[in-house]
Amino acid sequence: MKVAVMGCGTVGSGAVEILENKKELLAAKCGEPVELKYILDIRDLSDRPYGKKAVKDIGLILNDPEIGVVVETMGGLKPAFDFCLQCLNAGKSVVTSNKEMVAVKGDELLAAARANNVCFAFEAAVCGGIPLIRTMFSDLGANRLTGFDGIMNGTTNFILTKMIKEKMSFDTALKLAQELGFAEKDPTADVEGIDACRKTAILASIAFGTHVLPEEIPTEGITRITLEDAAYAADANAEIKLICKAERLPDGKVYAAVCPAFVSRNTMIANVSGVNNAVAVRGDSVGEVFLYGPGAGKEATASAVIGDVLACVRLKKNEDHYYWEPHREGVLCEKGENTVSLYVRGYAKHMETAAREIRETFDSVRFLSRDNAPANELAFITGKGKEKDLFEAVGEIRDFASASVIRVL
Ligand code: HSE
Repeated sequence: MKVAVMGCGTVGSGAVEILENKKELLAAKCGEPVELKYILDIRDLSDRPYGKKAVKDIGLILNDPEIGVVVETMGGLKPAFDFCLQCLNAGKSVVTSNKEMVAVKGDELLAAARANNVCFAFEAAVCGGIPLIRTMFSDLGANRLTGFDGIMNGTTNFILTKMIKEKMSFDTALKLAQELGFAEKDPTADVEGIDACRKTAILASIAFGTHVLPEEIPTEGITRITLEDAAYAADANAEIKLICKAERLPDGKVYAAVCPAFVSRNTMIANVSGVNNAVAVRGDSVGEVFLYGPGAGKEATASAVIGDVLACVRLKKNEDHYYWEPHREGVLCEKGENTVSLYVRGYAKHMETAAREIRETFDSVRFLSRDNAPANELAFITGKGKEKDLFEAVGEIRDFASASVIRVL
């Protein structure tokens, strides 16, 4: 089978290097040679060892009957979506690492793959090297999936780990993540939770069988997390993590969110540090499955891309049955309808009045302490309640201005 790669950036060049350097291994794994024929890129690749394969015209790929699989690692929606759709309609399987495209247009691409009896696979789009998508679609096929939660952005987990364990500033940690090649081109997508939200939308679409759009998922990033919050988290025996979560509620609606959260240090997820990701997937037969591994980086993500290429070569047609229904309204619950506890930090005008009112407002309040806190700082964790009611109640505490509110899992 011959393969084309569209986009030779970080992940694309990683995929190209595996295709070029591991030919024998790949052939042995799928029972036939897997040969890279074209690399489509607007950049000049003539100084690269595989530069002779570079082309600039997608028509060459579309019209070449030898090409059976096309890898899309360009990122973004334009022109990646049109190119992928054209490849599927030309009878070629498509493998992508492009989470934005799958999150926004996955239903259309899956329908096109089904109509053309070819594969559309996107293991590399969520959690880098962790084999998660095929696990959810195929290996957990006996289950009604009931939910998942996890850490799905390596850059923010790396930043939070550096801030909390090494007291490194946010900016220094972000710069380091960019140098190490984890961060998105525009780091806003990482630090504001946009990248994690796209991945959550993809997993929710798989888990619940209907396309969930990123804009439907309430999303908060990590830019407001401070070292003061980290110190209070330590007093609560918790870590602060950017958590991606979705679950089916008793009324059948789906709750989904991306937000920073206090996570008990006694859980596996709290111990996921650096660029690593982890996801706990829950199914009605299996219970909970915990998947852990490198969530970003050139080689780890290219490993997932090539795993999909091999599956496409082996299957040749749409036999992995990846599919979800097109988007419809009303799948997700209203924002704030879920049950949660909140960590709150703020400043009191009158400590005693504020503390008394906090005790009267929330069930089973736990006050927290940290070294060198200003005399008027108060931090506490509420008991459980409906999220929107708790947020409203925080805003109504007299003599108290909240500076930080973080969900507690
Ligand atoms: N910027 C992403 C991350 C890359 O840090 O997780 C992998 O999707």
